[in-house]
Parts: sequence; structure tokens; C-alpha cells
Amino acid sequence: MTHTCFPSNFIWGAATASYQIEGAWNEDGKGESIWDRFSHTPGAVANGDTGDVACDHYHRWCEDVALMKTLGLQAYRFSIAWPRLLPAGRGDVNQAGLDFYDRLVDALLEAGITPFVTLYHWDLPQALQDAGGWPARATAEAFVEYADLASRALGDRVAHWITLNEPFVSAVVGYLDGRHAPGHTNLDEMLAAAHHLLLGHGWAVPVIRQNRPQAEVGIVLNLGGQHPASPSPADRAAAWRQDGVIHRWFLDPLAGRGYPADVVQWRGRPMDFVMGGDLEHIAAPLDFLGVNYYTRGIVRSQEIPENENEPRTVFPNPEHTEMGWEVYPEGLYEILGRLHFCYPFPALYVTENGAAYPDQVGPSGEVDDARRVSYLEQHLVQAGRAIAVGVPLRGYFAWSLLDNFEWAHGYSKRFGLVYVDYRTQQRILKRSAHWYGRVIAANGVMD
Ligand code: FCB
Repeated sequence: MTHTCFPSNFIWGAATASYQIEGAWNEDGKGESIWDRFSHTPGAVANGDTGDVACDHYHRWCEDVALMKTLGLQAYRFSIAWPRLLPAGRGDVNQAGLDFYDRLVDALLEAGITPFVTLYHWDLPQALQDAGGWPARATAEAFVEYADLASRALGDRVAHWITLNEPFVSAVVGYLDGRHAPGHTNLDEMLAAAHHLLLGHGWAVPVIRQNRPQAEVGIVLNLGGQHPASPSPADRAAAWRQDGVIHRWFLDPLAGRGYPADVVQWRGRPMDFVMGGDLEHIAAPLDFLGVNYYTRGIVRSQEIPENENEPRTVFPNPEHTEMGWEVYPEGLYEILGRLHFCYPFPALYVTENGAAYPDQVGPSGEVDDARRVSYLEQHLVQAGRAIAVGVPLRGYFAWSLLDNFEWAHGYSKRFGLVYVDYRTQQRILKRSAHWYGRVIAANGVMD
């Protein structure tokens, strides 16, 4: 057994997102979001689940902060519901919404927990969607107004800001695949949405810094290697393309390299939504990049040319989580290393990492999620390896603090360190929560 130790200033946290936990979807002046609209659409979400109540965190935030304190969390990543602050997306401010986050931030600080605020974790005000959504450039302008409002209100106490969570998922799953709000399936909308998300991000960075001069500002991307299913040239080309679609399309412009030419050419669509100066704004220097890592992708080309008869790799009996995602901890080491050695971001955080398993409450009221402990432990070992080769990894956030509304899967997938009984709203610390508390106290894991 060896001990993976982390640097003394390493930050241990857990993450959530507004729509997934808050509930109170129409209380105290909150406006409708695209996820309210989407989840209220029959057939959109498994079992007809909605975020109307979710974990009722809007009313139970005090209890939830106490739970975080019990775990010894040093940081908490949460998102602000844009339509709680600006019910119509821009214009009139809802003071009750601001007050909610104000109280939450105060309670966190009093508990010694550093808030990491995500401005946009997918709950766009429906009014802005009605006006065109992210495919419309005006939404990027509205985002900056919202970022300004939020960072003015909380910037005296919040020093860590994340503009967007996973713009790939907002754009691709929301506007092309249609599995997320707003449920559209249009390639041109998707491309414009991705650009305006990045543009809103780039415009917001200096605004946040102006409101909080010592702020650390970053963005969070979903990242994970795209591995070819075999060494065949066709599979390798397909994997590189997928890497371009998921990773480079976002990383490259953020790093000042513009959109990757190979993917632009492959898409073959007009990029006329890119205006002069946009790419400079998108490349606004960042203090950190947040990495959400869950699994890798294995890519097979659609067609194998006849002269290519390399055997397709069979991956040996991989373990999967309940999402069907392969457990591949080495992928965290690989992506962190790649980011450090190939991109100029000054610091990295793992802003999400975790697993869904079909947890159950045992006879004596305990939740024994041994597989989640194993998943998290293996990933932390890989994070430690990355630090050892020089990756400037500053912290780690488990996804998620609580079981919650897992988007199109509704409540059928549990990712929490803390079990939530959705009938009673009772919270039960799972074995993984107790384990994570010990990891934090020891600043490391035994492997
Ligand atoms: C990420 C999301 C997060 C959660 C996890 C499982 O893509 O950012 O909200 O749903 O996946």
C-alpha cells in the first residue's frame, strides 16, 4: 500500500448545479428556465421527472451547508440559476433570488467553505430562448449583463468564478442531439450556440475581474480521451475527429488558436456568426480551466475501407457505471497531462468526477456504496500521478454532493456522496461521504 499525498494547499470540494438540486422552480419571483419548460414537456425526461422540487435545496440550504461542514469540505461548487436573478433573462432584477445566494455564500464562508460559483449550468431563462436562445448573439450580451450583476452582488465574498459548465453539452446535446433543453436538432443552431456560449464567456471574464479584481476566473469543459477502437487509420481518423468535435472545438479558441481547421472543413458549414474580434475576446486569459472527467470515448469509424482489415480492438471486460460509462481512471491522468503539456492554462481543477450506482438504503439505514468509493479512489490516485509529473492541479470536486436530478435521466441515476430520499427529503451520508471526509482530513488516499 502506498499513500497518495496531495499538496498542502490542494482544495477538496464537491459540486452541484442549481436546476439539479434547488427545486422551488417558480417561487419568490423566479422566472421559467429552459429546463423547467423541457422537463414539463411530456416524454422529454425519464419517468416524467422534473426539477420542480428536486432536493428542495432552496429551502434546505442551511441543512445542506451543515452536511458539507460535517464532511470537512473545503470548497463547494454550485451554480446560480440565471432566471432566479433575472426572471426574463435581462432587465428587472429579482431581489429575492439575489438574497438566496447571498445567504448561501455567507453560510458557506461562516462554515469555512470556499464558494466556487458557476454562472451557467444550463438553465437559460426561457424568455431568452424564446428570443432565439444561444444561437442568437444577443444571448451572449445578456449573459454578460447577468455575469456583471452576479459578480457585483457576490464579488466581495466570492473569489472563484466559473463562467460556463460544459458548453459542448449546452450546444451539442441541447441544440443538435435534442436530448437536453431546449431539445432542438439543428446543426447550424448548434454551431452558432457554441460560438455564442464561448463569446459570452470571453466577454464576461474581464467584467468579473473588474467587479472582483483578485478573482480567479475560469471555464469548465467536459473532457476525456477519444481513443480509436483499433490502430486502423480509419478508426484513428475518426477518433481525432471526435476529439476535435468535443475537445479542440472549445480548447483551441479558448487558448487563442481559433477553431480547429480540420473540424471546420469537415463540418462544411458557414461560420458567418463569427465576427471580427470575437476570437480575441474568446481567448481572454484564464486563471484556470475546470475539467469534468467521467470516462473516455472509444471511437469506431463508420466505414472501414476494404483494404483495411486490422482487427478491431476488444477492450477487456471493462467495468461500467450505471450510466453505462466505462470506469477508466487512467483517462484522468491522460487528459490532465495533455492539458498541461499542450495548452497554456495556468492552473487546472477537476471540477467534476464521480459515478452513478443503484444505491439502496440498507436494513440499518446505511448506504454502502463501495463501488463509488473504489471509483473515486482510483481517480484520485490518477490525479496524484498527474501532480507528480508537474500538472498544476489545484483542487478536486466530487460530483455530486447530493443525489439529484440527472437531466434527461431524471432521478433514476444517483451520483451523490449523500443519499436523498426524494419522498421525505431525508439526507443520508453514504459510505463514500464518510470515506471522502477521511480523504480530506488526511489530504490523501491509500492505494
Ligand atoms: C455533467 C454535468 C453534471 C452532471 C454530470 C453527471 O456533464 O455537468 O451536471 O449531470 O455530468
